[in-house]
Amino acid sequence: MIALETAQKNISSVGFLDVEIDPTLDLFEEIEKLKKEKNAILLAHYYQEADIQDVADYIGDSLGLAQKAKETDAEMIVFAGVHFMAETAKILNPTKKVVLPDLKAGCSLADSCPPDEFAAFRAKYPDHVVISYINCTAAIKAQTDIICTSSNAKFCVQSVPEDTGIIFAPDRNLGAWLQKELNREMVLWDGSCMVHEIFSLEKIIKLKEVFPEAKIIAHPECEKPILDIADFIGSTSQLLRFSKESEHKEFIVVTESGIIHQMKKNAPGKTFIPAPGTEETCACNDCPHMKLNTLEKIYLCMKYEMPEILMDESLRLRAKQPIDRMLEISRQAGLI
Ligand code: 13P
Ligand code: SF4
Repeated sequence: MIALETAQKNISSVGFLDVEIDPTLDLFEEIEKLKKEKNAILLAHYYQEADIQDVADYIGDSLGLAQKAKETDAEMIVFAGVHFMAETAKILNPTKKVVLPDLKAGCSLADSCPPDEFAAFRAKYPDHVVISYINCTAAIKAQTDIICTSSNAKFCVQSVPEDTGIIFAPDRNLGAWLQKELNREMVLWDGSCMVHEIFSLEKIIKLKEVFPEAKIIAHPECEKPILDIADFIGSTSQLLRFSKESEHKEFIVVTESGIIHQMKKNAPGKTFIPAPGTEETCACNDCPHMKLNTLEKIYLCMKYEMPEILMDESLRLRAKQPIDRMLEISRQAGLI
């Protein structure tokens, strides 16, 4: 067993507090107790494992989570999601303590856009407005005019006058989909999400032959050939709403598998089939970053209030402006 002090020192290399937990503890009960004791709110993304979703105070997509993080008056925000999400919570609510169960819960999409390279790229288009998907680091947000999520991206692009050029970063698939939907050229950064690019078109088409009545529902981070055969495209919360409200009973779900837990809860009589990836054996549609969070790590990070998200104040202020713009556009569009 590692001593607490050693585990605390190890956090920056290991990513989480690696302390043994009494195996007789009921972690659901303990987490509930800690929420009250510490006036903490547990926010979880739809891609978290089912147990984490069930113990969370709020489950949402990136937009909902940002909004919730901004408005909460809890003293501590426990973020069951990935690093850029917890960072966004800190940017929006700096006086609160924000903890992330595992600091190594990153994002391949955020990693695909290094700040120095992005600065050089931006410099080539000095008159362009920069719109960045929220799945990016604070250093990219600080170089951005408007942040967007997949729930509000169309409104964010449409907020820029027609005669003004746009750089869209970091997701090339979401960017290409927006270009097509809005009939608007943009300069795209060449980044992508490892989870949404792994789906196999061929296998999805075969699956559709087995379930001919099933509707294919996909996240816009997927590649174009997948989006071309999708019956509905939307953010996680939009996919959830569509699957609940639609008259259809079967769905092939082309996004991270965690969302299926809420889909089944919201529409118990319906069938949700996770879309297959290109590999035979892997759980391809599990985000390895999101799935680093566990109930054990959540319990420990609430108990010891670490790992904590800390940020330089001038970076925070620069990163906040484009998020505030996004929230304003979302409010005007009636999305929040
Ligand atoms: P949304 O929850 O905004 O749809 O984003 C999906 C995603 O990939 C989060 O990392
Ligand atoms: Fe990043 Fe993709 Fe994982 Fe979302 S699903 S956190 S975009 S790697």
